[in-house]
Amino acid sequence: MSVGLDGSAGTESGAGHGAGSEVRMARPEQGEQIELTIDSLAHGGEGVARYGDGGYVVFVSGAIPGDRVCAVVVKRKRSYAHARAVEIIEPSPERIEPVAHHPGVAWQVLPYERQLQIKAEQVDDALRRIGRLDGFVLEEIVPAVAQWRYRNKLEYSFGEGDDGALVCGFHAPGGCKHVVPIEDCLLASEIGNRAREVALRWARERGLRAWDRRRESVASGVALLRNLVIREGRRTGKLQVRLVTTPGEVDADLLAAALVAELGTDVLSGVLWTCSSALAETTLGGETELVWGEAELPERLRVGAKDGAGWCADGDDEDGLDLRISSEAFFQTNTEMAELLYGVALEYASLEGWERVYDLYCGTGTIALTLARRAGEVWGVELVEQAVADAIAAARRNDITNARFFAGDARLALPELIERAGRPDVVVVDPPRAGLSQKVVRRIIDASPKRVVYVSCNPTTLAPNAAQLVEAGWRLIKVRPVDMFPQTPHIEIVALLERV
Ligand SMILES: C[S@@+](CC[C@H](N)C(=O)[O-])C[C@H]1O[C@@H](n2cnc3c(N)ncnc32)[C@H](O)[C@@H]1O
Repeated sequence: MSVGLDGSAGTESGAGHGAGSEVRMARPEQGEQIELTIDSLAHGGEGVARYGDGGYVVFVSGAIPGDRVCAVVVKRKRSYAHARAVEIIEPSPERIEPVAHHPGVAWQVLPYERQLQIKAEQVDDALRRIGRLDGFVLEEIVPAVAQWRYRNKLEYSFGEGDDGALVCGFHAPGGCKHVVPIEDCLLASEIGNRAREVALRWARERGLRAWDRRRESVASGVALLRNLVIREGRRTGKLQVRLVTTPGEVDADLLAAALVAELGTDVLSGVLWTCSSALAETTLGGETELVWGEAELPERLRVGAKDGAGWCADGDDEDGLDLRISSEAFFQTNTEMAELLYGVALEYASLEGWERVYDLYCGTGTIALTLARRAGEVWGVELVEQAVADAIAAARRNDITNARFFAGDARLALPELIERAGRPDVVVVDPPRAGLSQKVVRRIIDASPKRVVYVSCNPTTLAPNAAQLVEAGWRLIKVRPVDMFPQTPHIEIVALLERV
């Protein structure tokens, strides 16, 4: 039986056995603890191991290749199971000491060079095996500028500690409702950590409680704490703090006063309060009120460049963009690496100055605005209206007059856009993890651009989308992974397809 890095496992019967001999593979029970040796890492980051003589595949979280682990089976399917490592019986020779004692950094036990190597291999594997593509150049992965403290946005949850005290941190892995308190989040900057400490101190002093969705409804006179969202303008040094609660009363002015006193008005750009009655664990939606300062976070982007010595973050600042990011708009969570990612997209677009470019799934228009200075005209499409408003405002602020943005569903908007703007020469897409539906790819094919620059956060969805374009007459020319998220299995990729 073969197993793909995406978890595609062969069938259970007959693998490696004579025709007609139905062999039942040994399978562990749900909840059972089993010993396994990890062979490889799957897309998404779980370890891959085989159980019993039949080679039943088990995906194991919390383990790396070479580990011998004791794991508990959390989900069992016909041809594979998911398990969680509960004990490392014999560590892999590759293992290194973890430095962050919090969730979200599962790959910190691998040396950084090895993380880069695995990410590049996974991109190659997805394109060749899932997409059945070849003949492309896999360019060297762009390593991260900073291996720690690189995130410009952290979403913390409030919860109750073992002693009943209010805590602020992250949910434990494995869909657990328990919140692991955090003292120093090594993905956040030091100033971002201080902002969280101030908010937690304020909440404890006011005697506020966390909302427990298992026990309480959202209708309450006193607001219960849900999340704390801290965003940072890495190039401006500004911080935005947003408290998310259930509906009710809370003295958010006092939180703002505490943050101003601790961080100062040079650092703090705004304090916001969102009341949300959503039942799901989300910081989107609800009613947001500006408590102090500005509603939008100021940030500046300098597009990255490749110099003779390799990749550097200090792109030409004349090409920089002044941005104001709304609290709910998508913005790449690693500013320094977004600059390099956009640098690759710019290079792949090979613009000469006359082209019509579409930027589909454009968010706050950062890629579109980066390309606009080198293109004839740029048209951006994005679902979230507030992000589109941010993009339009950013175009104005940066004196970019050849970029237009529309709120709409990229799945439906293409025919109308073509009618209005004319056919594109270059199409840039940067969809969410699920990638593009076959229908959207067909619409791009109908639009017939010379070049498609595909920015992807998921090689397993990039691969079939690229394969569909190749089938229709485009060639996958080159692909460059960019490491936006060190210590995690997440991969960002830029791919260039050209019409033959
Ligand atoms: C990965 S983000 C990329 C944003 C932007 N290119 C950037 O670099 O910041 C994907 C974006 O697609 C938007 N989106 C999701 N589904 C969409 C759809 N059906 N039509 C248009 N935009 C969509 C999301 O709101 C989000 O802003």
